[in-house]
Amino acid sequence: MAAAHPLAILLLLPLLAAANLVLEDGYTVTTFSDLNPLPASGPHPYAVLPRPRAGDLLLLDSAGSALYTLALSSPGDPRGLAGGKRDAGFNDGGPGDAAFDRPRSVAVDGADNVYVAHRVRVAGQLHGVVRKVSPNGYTTTIAGGLSSGPGHRDGPAQNATFSPDFELAYVPKICALLVADRGNRMIRQINLKPEDCAREKQSGLGTTSVSVIAILCALVGSIIGFLARHFYPVNAGNLHQPLFQQDTEAIPENPEEGDSDQLLRHKKRSC
Ligand SMILES: *[C@@H]1O[C@H](CO)[C@@H](O)[C@H](O)[C@H]1NC(C)=O
Repeated sequence: MAAAHPLAILLLLPLLAAANLVLEDGYTVTTFSDLNPLPASGPHPYAVLPRPRAGDLLLLDSAGSALYTLALSSPGDPRGLAGGKRDAGFNDGGPGDAAFDRPRSVAVDGADNVYVAHRVRVAGQLHGVVRKVSPNGYTTTIAGGLSSGPGHRDGPAQNATFSPDFELAYVPKICALLVADRGNRMIRQINLKPEDCAREKQSGLGTTSVSVIAILCALVGSIIGFLARHFYPVNAGNLHQPLFQQDTEAIPENPEEGDSDQLLRHKKRSC
């Protein structure tokens, strides 16, 4: 066998030099869930996402057009949530009736509702629809249900149109789904209902911090009010009147109150 031509090696050198890998150590890989022992009809994971309320996982089987949940404590035992019980299609209703058409994008909101995006063919034209699966497996169509072809029409979600190639993300801060609408080169927004974005119950720490801040604020306000007493003669006039306009409106006026008392009251209220 002939040796590599020296020129070929020379040509390869810049390619080899271009790779700059920083191999960071300290990570390990394990198999969290091996689904191979399950029947071939069973779940074939395409995407996996955490469900914040239930604290488990949502598993999307795209080829099987089905959704499953997976408890962290029993990762080999997925449970059907919706779809997969009939052929791929477009049908809403209870877990046994819902059908999806090989969805490739999934998102989970703050209340564990699952949003699934897939394409639908109507009269030979492909367009995108967004489905919602509630935690009990009931499926509805929330966007694109009335559209009959691709497009980028905004407005009532059932009439809205999308390209057939898009991906969903749940953005809690704006209580919305954002849609990377690839075919239209746009990011679209589907506003969700407030209950869909309800955050998990407040942590005890959060409540405690708020109380501590409130107490500190009241304390600092009292000290400032007490110190300021020396700087304002009793008849300082209307020097700071405009500042307090809004506050004094809300509280019944007490003519016997001194200015420093007013200041103190203001400090307390501004906390
Ligand atoms: C939405 O589509 C339906 C069915 O095509 C139509 O009857 C309705 O007027 C449309 N609504 C809007 C706001 O475009």
